[in-house]
Amino acid sequence: MKKSGSLLALALIALVASLPAIAAAETGARAIPDHVALTWAGDPKTTQTITWRCSADVKAGTVEYAIGTSLGAETKKVSAKAAPYKSDLGVDSLFTATLTGLKKDTVYAYRVGDGSSWSETATFRTAGSGDFEFLVFGDSQSGSADKPVYDPWRATLRAAFDANKDARFFVNMGDLVEIGYMQAHWNAWFDAAKGVIDRIPEMPVQGNHETYVDGGETVMDKPVSWLGQLPTPQNGPAGLKGQVYGYSVGNVDFFVLDSQEDEESPKYGDILAAQAAWLDKALAASTADFKIAFFHKTPYYNKAARANEAVKATFCPILEKHHVDIVFNGHDHGLSRTYPVKGDSFFSDPKDGTVYYVTGRSGNKYYNDLTNKFWNAFFYDPQDQGVYLAVNVAGKKLTVTARKADGTVLDVYAIDKAGSGSTITPAPARFNATRTAAFGNFLVGSAMNPSLARKGASGAWFCDLNALAAYLGATVTTGDGTAEIALGKLVARIPAEGLALESGKPALVSVDALKSLGISATYYPDLNVLSLVR
Ligand SMILES: [Fe+2]
Ligand SMILES: [Fe+2]
Repeated sequence: MKKSGSLLALALIALVASLPAIAAAETGARAIPDHVALTWAGDPKTTQTITWRCSADVKAGTVEYAIGTSLGAETKKVSAKAAPYKSDLGVDSLFTATLTGLKKDTVYAYRVGDGSSWSETATFRTAGSGDFEFLVFGDSQSGSADKPVYDPWRATLRAAFDANKDARFFVNMGDLVEIGYMQAHWNAWFDAAKGVIDRIPEMPVQGNHETYVDGGETVMDKPVSWLGQLPTPQNGPAGLKGQVYGYSVGNVDFFVLDSQEDEESPKYGDILAAQAAWLDKALAASTADFKIAFFHKTPYYNKAARANEAVKATFCPILEKHHVDIVFNGHDHGLSRTYPVKGDSFFSDPKDGTVYYVTGRSGNKYYNDLTNKFWNAFFYDPQDQGVYLAVNVAGKKLTVTARKADGTVLDVYAIDKAGSGSTITPAPARFNATRTAAFGNFLVGSAMNPSLARKGASGAWFCDLNALAAYLGATVTTGDGTAEIALGKLVARIPAEGLALESGKPALVSVDALKSLGISATYYPDLNVLSLVR
């Protein structure tokens, strides 16, 4: 095949601003390339982006590539763009090249280097039009700024790759590393990913930890190290290019979003509105058999008391309006799958709604406060080892299989658009008496009665303050027709409805009065559940 591949070297994102003072420590880079990473910044069928680093004295980089599993007489050469890569450990040279004009569904051999020092020869394979499989990994971070421990990430990734050799690419769901601006974490992350990320492309999602500038997690900024080392398609909204993007493989369109409103908005302003407009337009234009979205923070979470209401309110109505089939999230380190959702109603058949899948953890960090929620059809807390998802697309059937690193199957979920092979998860029945939930968990009332929520004479909802306080770890003092709730530094005096406000007895308070504590309420009429979130 002599067709000349045209050359398009990607302009490297300038890595500037807000980096902490450069320490004298070694960066770990050498003359021989390392951190060799495949991503798709262009069309997965016809391009391949390759990024690597060398020590700062290496100023030029080349990719040699050829169809097949080894380089030979037909080998082509492409020059890479080189740029200084600044981190807290020093300055390296970072090289990026995008090979273009490639043949679809074709194996290529390649190596990178400066003409004298070369990486080992590896292979990549361009995307095709037919059936394919990809891998999804929840948070791979170490869990400690001081300890860049990425052996569990290595173990999960290797196990997933070894068990799914046909996987065409993989996705990290954000929080790849513990501190985005600490290169020691990236060095350990890339070392763990070697042997996979140089063979199948990574299509990363950004997490909140990618914005962390220091180990104290108090200073946040653009995820420059994530952006620089893992180049992605530049087709997102202005100001968020690389962090928000779309791509297509086979009959699936993928949409990657940035949920880090809390971390980025203080410095860069609102980031959600521009994404909403972009997403609505991109989804409206999609004609693919399947639509899949990825973003880090969870609209349907599994932490005990952590919600992401602004992200949910912005993204979910658009995702559900266009019937995105599956949304993958990270951040909570648990593994969970909702019933198909549309507009806060839950369905049994995936044809009726969008399924939200929280992807567990692939790395060292796990939480001890994960709980199942009323919106989940499946929940698993991966305490003992990392987990991963393999997503298989065969014609009009998409199957998600969740496994432990050791291969144990935890969940299988199928969406079949051509036949009757979809997984049906009977939606929960409606309660006769209203239940109150906090962060998706049903409250148990003071008198062990879970059904205390009710509408007052004015039509406003009332709930049992004692049960809510018990869940939140707040204290309640009652008397004189009012209840006082102390939640952290917040104290609110709330009129309680005409009940004897004795200790241990229900204190029914209007949920509207809880707004001063940052608590909001949603009523789910299909379930007869009053859901409180803070
Ligand atoms: Fe995380
Ligand atoms: Fe996170």
